[in-house]
Amino acid sequence: MNDLLLRALRREAVDRPPVWMMRQAGRYLPEYRAVRAKSDFLTMCRTPELAVEVTLQPIDLVGVDAAIIFSDILVVPEAMGMHLTLDEGVGPQFSSPIRSRADLTRLTPVEPREQLAYMLDALRMARRALNGRVPLIGFAGAPWTLAAYMVEGKGTKQFAVAKKMLFEQPALAHALLDQLATAVGDFLVAQVEAGAQVVQLFESWAGALGPEEFRTFALPYLAKAAQRAREAGVPVIVFAPGGGWALSEIAAATHADAIGVDWHTTPQEARRLTDPFRVALQGNLDPCTLYAPVEEIRRRTHTMIEAFGPVGHVANLGHGILPDMKPDHARAFIDAVKEWQWTDERLAAAHGTAAPAGPQLAGVP
Ligand code: CP3
Repeated sequence: MNDLLLRALRREAVDRPPVWMMRQAGRYLPEYRAVRAKSDFLTMCRTPELAVEVTLQPIDLVGVDAAIIFSDILVVPEAMGMHLTLDEGVGPQFSSPIRSRADLTRLTPVEPREQLAYMLDALRMARRALNGRVPLIGFAGAPWTLAAYMVEGKGTKQFAVAKKMLFEQPALAHALLDQLATAVGDFLVAQVEAGAQVVQLFESWAGALGPEEFRTFALPYLAKAAQRAREAGVPVIVFAPGGGWALSEIAAATHADAIGVDWHTTPQEARRLTDPFRVALQGNLDPCTLYAPVEEIRRRTHTMIEAFGPVGHVANLGHGILPDMKPDHARAFIDAVKEWQWTDERLAAAHGTAAPAGPQLAGVP
């Protein structure tokens, strides 16, 4: 039983950080593309056997220390009655975006055990199939990020339509965000009941907002969803790329067990903003590092681990792995983390003398 991730999230002493990659079940793996060739993406999400098959692939193929359930953040708006399409080369789209009060009243409340039963089934099956090999991570999009998609109707670089709503119709925006915070919180609780051992909230469009709008429209709803999820009793990770400046505010407002760090923020700066014994940090190698030769990947991975230090670190990329990256290079990143060993002296110095003895031996074959 590899429980390194759970121990690192509890800020316990571990002799190396656990490692996984955002988007680890995805198109960079030929084995994923083989499954995908036979079904479209949304069918894969809705078919637990297929979702579980690709969820497990990176455990066997690249050796990560955690599984993240295969699904998408946009299943929540879909469960609220929005029509989602995902066409090749176009990306995710909603046919009737939310622009008015009338649009908002069309949204149905989410009962995760009904509309999202397929994802809960996939979690139950994945948990059984993993049989304790590594912990299973569930996830959801955070309210602002989902609202931005629902208002825009598609991905965008500027988020001008969604931001226009914040300034022109703030009461409407707050109503939508509050409905989403409830739906997302309930969904994460249901995921934990179905077997998720950790949950991650993706506030992927945090970077679209300046500090005042982030504090008004993103943070309170992110906090509401995260706190609800935390009551379910598992560690919560909050990832808000572009929100490096707000790390300490995010930690304080959400009570998250870990905060994701993107590659714009240095580990040193992230550490300066947070207390390692109160909140773990996850990240933050620039995914494009995986285009470098393997020796360079190894060197930069070790530099990153050293910079985060021995307490409360989950090694990951600073954002998702890209479809054209080589599986061998992903493996080089994972192997570089796995060969790391904190010395007893470093662990003792960081945790106090009593801490390292027990956990250091546990889980090492
Ligand atoms: O991390 C994992 O391996 C778990 C599964 C996962 C997916 N999407 C699978 C997926 C997770 C956690 C997501 C989250 C997600 N989805 C985000 C937040 C991501 C972040 O890094 O901050 C966003 C913004 C979405 C919405 C979405 N879904 C986009 C923008 C796309 C890509 C469209 C494209 O064609 O590039 C998707 C589709 C998607 N989600 C794919 C995968 C593996 C590719 C689908 C395919 O096989 O065609």
